[in-house]
Amino acid sequence: MKPVKLGILGARRGLAFAGSASHGKSQELELSCICDFSDSKLEKAAKEFNVALFSDFDEMLKTDIDAVVLANYFHEHAPFAIKAMKAGKHVISETIPAATMAEAVALCEAVEETGMTYMFAENYPFTKMGLAMKSEYENEIIGRAIYADGEYIHPLDPVKFNEIAPGANHWRNWIPSTYYSTHALAPLMFITGAKPVRVNALSISDESVSAGTARRNDPLAIILCTMDNGSVFRITGWGTAGGHSVWYRVIGTKGTIEAPRSYDGGYFGNGQLNITLNELEPDISLRRVSSYKPEWPKGAEEAQKAGHGGGDYFMNKMFIEAIRSGSHPKHFNVYDGAAMSAVAILSWRSALSGGIPFNIPDFKNINERTTFKNDYSTPFPNDKGRPLIQPSVNT
Ligand SMILES: NC(=O)c1ccc[n+]([C@@H]2O[C@H](COP(=O)([O-])OP(=O)(O)OC[C@H]3O[C@@H](n4cnc5c(N)ncnc54)[C@H](O)[C@@H]3O)[C@@H](O)[C@H]2O)c1
Repeated sequence: MKPVKLGILGARRGLAFAGSASHGKSQELELSCICDFSDSKLEKAAKEFNVALFSDFDEMLKTDIDAVVLANYFHEHAPFAIKAMKAGKHVISETIPAATMAEAVALCEAVEETGMTYMFAENYPFTKMGLAMKSEYENEIIGRAIYADGEYIHPLDPVKFNEIAPGANHWRNWIPSTYYSTHALAPLMFITGAKPVRVNALSISDESVSAGTARRNDPLAIILCTMDNGSVFRITGWGTAGGHSVWYRVIGTKGTIEAPRSYDGGYFGNGQLNITLNELEPDISLRRVSSYKPEWPKGAEEAQKAGHGGGDYFMNKMFIEAIRSGSHPKHFNVYDGAAMSAVAILSWRSALSGGIPFNIPDFKNINERTTFKNDYSTPFPNDKGRPLIQPSVNT
């Protein structure tokens, strides 16, 4: 079978994709071209990859690539995804899939109209820990999930921050604290299969965290997501205060599965999975605290070499499977991507309104999503005349 030819938009995070595509021959991906309108980014890309280089996305779309990877600015994915699908290209898009509610609706419509494969590339679920947590949960060892925690805390010193947020209008200087919430939420959705239906959120402002940068946003948000199975997940957005870590815990009726935090350099935890079962577990021999070190599932040893704790390997694999089968990717399709975008966007509205609840529409339901068809409010500066909402709770 011919490999899937990839073109990448955005040569910072995009180069990690380029690496996993060009090294992963067994994954049937072929890196064909890279596009970035920054000369310095293209020069760097040229040193690492011997592929065609473009500064204009439209020109890259004219080539014979099968699919595009969208690793451009955080808040500009949906218009490029729609354009690519209309040009007959499959799309794998970085977070956030859509930065406004209207774009989330338009994205769903474009997938339905074009029939192209669209995958939201959330890589954090596919670590050793995420896969093991899912497997334990699906074995029903802790019963039904009623509560979960997901945290994504990634502080940066001002020098590093300014380096990756060049210019006062760069998205990292404006992004509200709820908007980068998919690293916290997606793993919990992956593990439990639950989908968000309502959000309440609060944002915490502290200007000292932004010292030495052009940031206008807050360092932490706490979002309560009510899920479609009645459970509540407490997640963060991108937290920039606290120790650098991610952390996931699922509390079920009969026990807890947790991938504990680690501050000793182990960003994805300390490598141990803890399971605690309570007295509702009828088998006394099972009522215990157990802890073990998960390994990669059989056949997935190559994941070790991929970026972000192995996540990039599984995403590429799932994307190819979806293209080959013509079906929606398992994790995550456009409707899940739109729902996660809505969690980010509507949580911010909740935070600006003191935490009142906002319902997440079911994006498969045309009536529900149509309410948001013209809702272009955004916290990001733009030249399209879109209504601006404030990026911090502290006005
Ligand atoms: N999943 C992960 O682990 C992970 C890690 C890092 C970043 N990301 C995501 O990847 C995306 C990119 O992140 P980043 O850190 O590289 O962002 P960035 O802002 O540093 O880089 C974006 C790049 O895209 C280029 N670009 C933007 N619009 C363009 C256009 N219209 N034409 C040509 N080039 C264009 C810019 O020149 C820049 O080089 C973001 O959505 C971010 O959230 C995800």
